[in-house]
Amino acid sequence: MAMKKQGGGDKRRRVVLVPYPFQGHITPMLQLGSILQSRGFSVTVSHPQYNSPPPSAHPELEFHSLYDGLAGYDMSFHNLLAAIYAMNENCRASLDEYLVQLMEKEEEEEKPVIIYDNIMFFVDAVATHLKIPTIVLRPFSAIYLHSLLSVLQQSDAIFPFQDDSILEPLPDLHPLRFKDLPFPTINNDVLEPVVEFSVRSNDIRSSVACIWNSLEELEHSALSKLQQRYKVPFFPIGPFHKRASDSSTSLLEEDTSCLEWLDRQAPGSVLYISIGSLVNISEKDLVETAWGLANSEQPFLWVVRPGSVNGCDQLPEDFERVIGDRGRIVKWAPQRSVLSHRAVGGFMSHCGWNSTLESISEGVPMICTPVISDQPVNARYISQVWKVGLELEKAERGVVETTIRKLMVGSEGRELRKRVVDLKLKLESCMQKGGSSYQALDELVEFISSLP
Ligand code: UDX
Repeated sequence: MAMKKQGGGDKRRRVVLVPYPFQGHITPMLQLGSILQSRGFSVTVSHPQYNSPPPSAHPELEFHSLYDGLAGYDMSFHNLLAAIYAMNENCRASLDEYLVQLMEKEEEEEKPVIIYDNIMFFVDAVATHLKIPTIVLRPFSAIYLHSLLSVLQQSDAIFPFQDDSILEPLPDLHPLRFKDLPFPTINNDVLEPVVEFSVRSNDIRSSVACIWNSLEELEHSALSKLQQRYKVPFFPIGPFHKRASDSSTSLLEEDTSCLEWLDRQAPGSVLYISIGSLVNISEKDLVETAWGLANSEQPFLWVVRPGSVNGCDQLPEDFERVIGDRGRIVKWAPQRSVLSHRAVGGFMSHCGWNSTLESISEGVPMICTPVISDQPVNARYISQVWKVGLELEKAERGVVETTIRKLMVGSEGRELRKRVVDLKLKLESCMQKGGSSYQALDELVEFISSLP
């Protein structure tokens, strides 16, 4: 346990967590908080006001709100980079003030340790000024960061590329293709602001270590290449959700009624569909997905998040009549409970890293429908390297229908299911005593406790 003796009593060392305030990042940070608290640390989550996490679901953690100046700011996807820079600027004074007060109040011999999401890069300046040690949390996959840095390194040779090279392999990045580039492009060229942001947010500066929601067994090669580059200790202690408390980390209200509907379905029969919390799809993709699902004749649970469709998010007029009780549509699901439900036999996913880990951890094979950023990279590894999912070649109803049948009732689906269950068992053993993730967590606890 991470305790030190002080005046005869046990005193817990304080860890201050600074999350990036979006669902896919808040979730792993809260889970990390829960893990560290259970290993003997006092944990404060120091978060921007925007998308405040729900404190009542986490009585074991303390919460502190940072002034972010984002009230009234355009937080839509197209303005995200500007919002990130504004947040990094605006939260600085507030974090500085909080840490000074914390150190005065606690009269600790030891300073707190800060763990921050790499996108909250302002933390480095505050911590350096106050001489507080920091560790970076990487909530994305290592394969994504490795591919991003490799592409940027060879950008002069890669950009701009020809339209017809979209299916060609990216140099030195097997099995990725130009199609899977880990950032947006315009006219097949890289955007300067994206390059600047990528460099800035992935520079760990004075941080003394990196924590990964991953495992050696899943991403050994990328982790070791990145470790050579960053030259600080790495702690791949994932998957976090399997160690953390079961408390909800959702910012949106979960529709738990779908669990009762799942209870009435046959084992392994239901396809679950979600594109996570951030990305959108087009109106056309919504309609094609709907008819693909209907024509596949397989039971399904579909999350259609409000605002997730560019354009009209109305489902086709007679869709609900055609599917009857065979399909269930919700605005937001308790995803971890859904994936661990015995009725769920497949996940059509955008391949966000949390969703990927959650699906593998429950032995659920996937249909990959990536949109941007890390998702195409994760999708490629799911289908080509770990071989636990199928790529959706085209968002057309006929292709959706046949891919769903392949996964849910075809022989290929049976093979994928077998492999994902094998992978799940392998990850479970890594989390047990003697396993790599178990050992990395022990080492992390020791490492944090020994920081000056
Ligand atoms: C974002 C990025 O888009 C993703 O690519 C990156 O890896 C992390 O940040 P997001 O798109 O939301 O995250 O995807 P993901 O990482 O899968 O996280 C979504 C989380 O929301 C998961 O933990 C999932 O369990 C949860 N979720 C999703 C629900 O609880 N209910 C839902 O209905 C949908």
